[in-house]
Amino acid sequence: PVRALTPAAVMARKGDTPLVCLTAYTTPVAKLVDPECDIVLVGDSVGMVLHGLPSTLGVTLEMMIMHGKAVMRGLGRALCVVDMPFGSYEESPAQAFRHAARLLAETGAAAVKLEGGLHMKETISFLVARGIPVMGHVGLTPQSVNTLGGYKVQGRDADAGRVLADAHAVADAGAFAVVLEKLPSALAATITNEVPVPTIGIGAGPACDGQILVVDDMLGLFADFRPKFVKRFATLAEDAGAAIHAYAEEVRTGRFPAQEHSFGAAS
Ligand code: KIV
Ligand code: NA
Repeated sequence: PVRALTPAAVMARKGDTPLVCLTAYTTPVAKLVDPECDIVLVGDSVGMVLHGLPSTLGVTLEMMIMHGKAVMRGLGRALCVVDMPFGSYEESPAQAFRHAARLLAETGAAAVKLEGGLHMKETISFLVARGIPVMGHVGLTPQSVNTLGGYKVQGRDADAGRVLADAHAVADAGAFAVVLEKLPSALAATITNEVPVPTIGIGAGPACDGQILVVDDMLGLFADFRPKFVKRFATLAEDAGAAIHAYAEEVRTGRFPAQEHSFGAAS
């Protein structure tokens, strides 16, 4: 059987060839991305991307467990990381451990990701000391949209020191990698040079040790969400729209189903 990449193996890739990462929420998409990816993230972005929620705040542990199980059924090689949802870890290290343990035990994934820097240091080291590999996430942390006042670029000008300190705190606490979201490229480069664990960028420029995108975004599965940091490698929403139109036309005009899609009396 294929051996999945371990968090330790990911950590050892610091400064090596770029780590390729994408999100997945379902078994078929996990099967598609697995051969090309080092890390597959079951992101809490699932709430917005698949469930139509207005932010990630409404995502539950049960949703993350369900999607984590689905993704694990489709993976062979990539390391699976599952996001801890809002409200499942911020209260205390003990609360975080209880919920992270459920995520790993019930999905079979090998690691969790949680948002926050300095104020999550104690929690990250608590989890790592008890057998739970943690990926950090600093810069724009979407679960804090209400205190950040929107999905703005973080770490500009006087704010750079805060984000740098957050990245250091996460690495010092024992995280095996850290996501840098929506930062000026120069700051992400500084962080990447200074912290000893791989940085995985999203909207953080080319200097990071790896890159991640939401798979539905890079496949162009939406017509209505196009942030600057997303490159569309396909336009599947347009292809799907055309296919659905063609189906509707053929049903209305009686051209589908044809003989070849229909059954005769004899088997
Ligand atoms: O939820 C998510 O998809 C993420 C990535 C964008 C890093 O956290
Ligand atoms: Na997330």
